[in-house]
Amino acid sequence: MNKTILVTGGAGFIGSNFIKNYLQNNPHHQVINLDKLTYAGNLANLTELEANPQYTFIKGDICDRDLIENILSAKNAYNAPPDYIIHFAAESHVDRSIHDSSEFIQTNIIGTQVILDAVRKLWTGDKNKRMVHVSTDEVYGSLPAEGLFSENSLIKPNSPYSASKASSDLLVRAYFKTYGLPLITTRCSNNYGPYQFPEKLIPLIINNIIKRKKLPVYGQGSNVRDWLYVTDHCNAIEAVLNKGIIGEVYNIGGNNEWKNIDIVKRICSILDKKLGQSGFKSESLIEYVSDRLGHDLRYAIDASKIKEQLGWKPQYVFEDGIEKTIDWYLDNMDWLDDVTSGEYQAYYQKHYTKNKT
Ligand code: NAD
Ligand code: TYD
Repeated sequence: MNKTILVTGGAGFIGSNFIKNYLQNNPHHQVINLDKLTYAGNLANLTELEANPQYTFIKGDICDRDLIENILSAKNAYNAPPDYIIHFAAESHVDRSIHDSSEFIQTNIIGTQVILDAVRKLWTGDKNKRMVHVSTDEVYGSLPAEGLFSENSLIKPNSPYSASKASSDLLVRAYFKTYGLPLITTRCSNNYGPYQFPEKLIPLIINNIIKRKKLPVYGQGSNVRDWLYVTDHCNAIEAVLNKGIIGEVYNIGGNNEWKNIDIVKRICSILDKKLGQSGFKSESLIEYVSDRLGHDLRYAIDASKIKEQLGWKPQYVFEDGIEKTIDWYLDNMDWLDDVTSGEYQAYYQKHYTKNKT
């Protein structure tokens, strides 16, 4: 049967990739994208769906109770109550949360509570509904050189961002335990791919190399992240939506750990070949800058639960994923220029022109 699905934060990086991927996999379903269009949300990410009758956009805030209740009670373009919710909407950048956590508390915690209250009001007792709450491995805090995060790892967030996501995860857990609502949580490692806002490491480095700007590496560049191509994450969320057990948490990751400095050098070498810059080495742009406050040393995911129980596995090896990503940015310089103009320029100048070490 055809389903109606509400996606929050669908104009952001993962949300926009998810909607396109979902409609490819389920062309007869109906997708409602609810997004506030903050600096990170961009309708240009979804232009190919503008004429698609299976897709509709609503500009709005997840903290708006009336709006959420109206959408869930069929007051939407399809006159159909959504069967599913995929909840992406969030403030997502650690550095911004260190500068000011207010929006993170408001959107990530209060916004999630508003959605959960609406779900409680309108979905209680309905066995056919499902909501996937999209969270992050950062709620587990930081790992030493060895070990992996499992679903049973302690929740020990270190940044205001991860603390706000952990708070939302705990609310989801509590609303499942208390009210028996059909809620599932996913916790994924770092994503990369097309349409990621160029304040995150990989697109920032690509953009700066293209523009011959300095490549800021925090601290010694020895922090480790576990990178997953964005559509692998999207397919994992769909597997959880279709086959996951209500009340469970599923970790998502691709066993692809990289030290920051190694990933920066890898991008330099790929782009040097692609740009054919006679003799110029992008590595010469690397600049070690003062470290991020409270910088988590290492993230690495044990994804055996989702692999064994739901049959998901990543499709991209890193070599292919990073090539595809770099090619996308090279082909979409207008998008890069557009999202980095205006408000972001002032923000970048204020916060990202860090001290050299
Ligand atoms: P993003 O910052 O690119 O996009 C967030 C989207 O949410 C934007 O379109 C923004 O306009 C929207 N939004 C923000 N506040 C809103 C509000 N109050 N109401 C409605 N919409 C609002 O983020 P992303 O990287 O796509 O991440 C999406 C989700 O996935 C987040 O919940 C994040 O915590 C989680 N996640 C991200 C990663 C990653 O590597 N990027 C990894 C694991 C989990
Ligand atoms: P980021 O993309 O912000 O993701 P997260 O903090 O959620 O893991 O950063 C990835 C890693 O790269 C993190 O260890 C911080 C580091 N980093 C830099 O060294 N320089 C930069 O300019 C940025 C944005 C991040």
